Amino acid sequence: TILVLDFGSQYSHLITRRLRELNVYSEMLPCTQKLADLSWKPKGIILSGGPYSVYETDAPHADPAVFEAGVPILGICYGLQEMAWHYDTSNVLAGEKREYGAATIRVDKHDKRVDRLFNGIDEFVVWMSHGDKLGHLPAEFVVIAETNNAPFAGIAHQERDFYGIQFHPEVTHTPRGTKILQNFAVDICHASQNWSMSQFVDKEIERIRTLVGDKGQVIGAVSGGVDSTVAAKLMKEAIGDRFHAVLVDNGLLRLNEAVEVKKTLTEGLGINLTVIDASDLFLSRLKGVTDDPEKKRKIIGNTFIDVFLDKAKQIEAEARNTPRAGNIEWLLQGTLYPDVIESISFKGPSSTIKTHHNVGGLPAKMDLKLIEPLRELFKDEVRELGTQLGIPEDLVWRHPFPGPGIGIRILGEVTPEQVRIAREADHIFISEIKAAGLYRHISQAFAALLPVKAVGVMGDKRVHDQVVALRAVVTTDFMTARMFNFWEHDMDFVERVSTRIVNEVQGVCRVFYDTTSKPPGTIEME
Ligand code: XMP
Repeated sequence: TILVLDFGSQYSHLITRRLRELNVYSEMLPCTQKLADLSWKPKGIILSGGPYSVYETDAPHADPAVFEAGVPILGICYGLQEMAWHYDTSNVLAGEKREYGAATIRVDKHDKRVDRLFNGIDEFVVWMSHGDKLGHLPAEFVVIAETNNAPFAGIAHQERDFYGIQFHPEVTHTPRGTKILQNFAVDICHASQNWSMSQFVDKEIERIRTLVGDKGQVIGAVSGGVDSTVAAKLMKEAIGDRFHAVLVDNGLLRLNEAVEVKKTLTEGLGINLTVIDASDLFLSRLKGVTDDPEKKRKIIGNTFIDVFLDKAKQIEAEARNTPRAGNIEWLLQGTLYPDVIESISFKGPSSTIKTHHNVGGLPAKMDLKLIEPLRELFKDEVRELGTQLGIPEDLVWRHPFPGPGIGIRILGEVTPEQVRIAREADHIFISEIKAAGLYRHISQAFAALLPVKAVGVMGDKRVHDQVVALRAVVTTDFMTARMFNFWEHDMDFVERVSTRIVNEVQGVCRVFYDTTSKPPGTIEME
């Protein structure tokens, strides 16, 4: 195991991600972790970057025992400065030139013993993001890499396996970064490369059990999407029926969604799930809201919280009567790493999370502790984990679906009739995408309803009916996106879907395809 001590850099979790890619097991702990309190001995220690200056009075510092543990250490950015500071507290200067972005490293291989970190690499581009830099080297160290702005871009201890690098090897903008981490973890620390997702499952289940205790109970909202389902299945494996999943049917889910999710989660995965049909409440509160998308989102979000809180109180009251279980103290959230916007984790592992659009208000209102088993993982890893946990393929690869559901895909007033039309059109579109084998090529697809009517002619009669817009996009991070080009795959696809929708969905006379990129558009219509 490699121990990663987190000094709060926004990239810290990427270090563990890169190590996982190398099949090396690592654990990230707050930088204040005392080595004596660890029940295991790390094979090597990585000191992460961080937003502080080592010479500030309240700057976080590593347990001095770290430097006496007899294992190799790699300091990254702040970690380099922390290492230098440990040897000589007069060392670090505020950089005259801040250095952010790409820089070219020249590697000095003058000393065979210290070039091990850069084995296989000579000159390469790295990602810098720092203000401070070293003023001079502590006596024990030598320089092993430099850039035009940073004479001490890489340093190494003359006798011990201690290395420091000013740049970030964990970001993809440092193309050879993983090789450096591999040189450190595998060649220098001799960490074994036998980590796999199944070990993550075992460890995480253990961790959840310890956290929740023998009697503790957990509640969590599920949506039928991959993140909440994977998180729920993990809880089920860890604590069985002491995990209570709740699906709020807001009347804005996809066609037959509530029924299908219930079936998969309860019959397929054995999860203790309660479905609440609150469609009428949601739709009645949305009545009359015509052209204010933010208002719609707020109504849907607040109603969700009301319904969920009500149910939670009821489940809690029932749960109290269970002889072997205690109170519900925990709220499960399927937060992924990309949702974790900034990490100041040495102040406590879950101190900063991005509040999720839909359930953001929940933790504050419920006075529950958060449990977030996926918070270190990326989407692709969650999918791998889902497969590992036996979650069906089609659920694992499901397109994302927004919390406010088709409420933000019906432009204008959300009425039961509009919901029916949007649902049926969407169902046809997605079924055809699946039938054409295109589902996995597309990141997200749906049908939306425009707030206008157009004229058509059907069966010799003039009609004045609704307009459907189809949207399908390709994206890796959902921050930017382009339309999916069906015509590249199948010249007739869009026309086929269009014909089916107009023929089969009562009340629609036209179908458009949305070609807008993000930016300037967004993926959703509202
Ligand atoms: P936009 O429309 O902002 O969407 O380009 C980016 C991604 O986020 C999803 N999305 C949401 N998900 N609650 C959610 O759970 C929301 O309120 C919400 N708004 C957008 C959207 O589906 C897309 O995947």
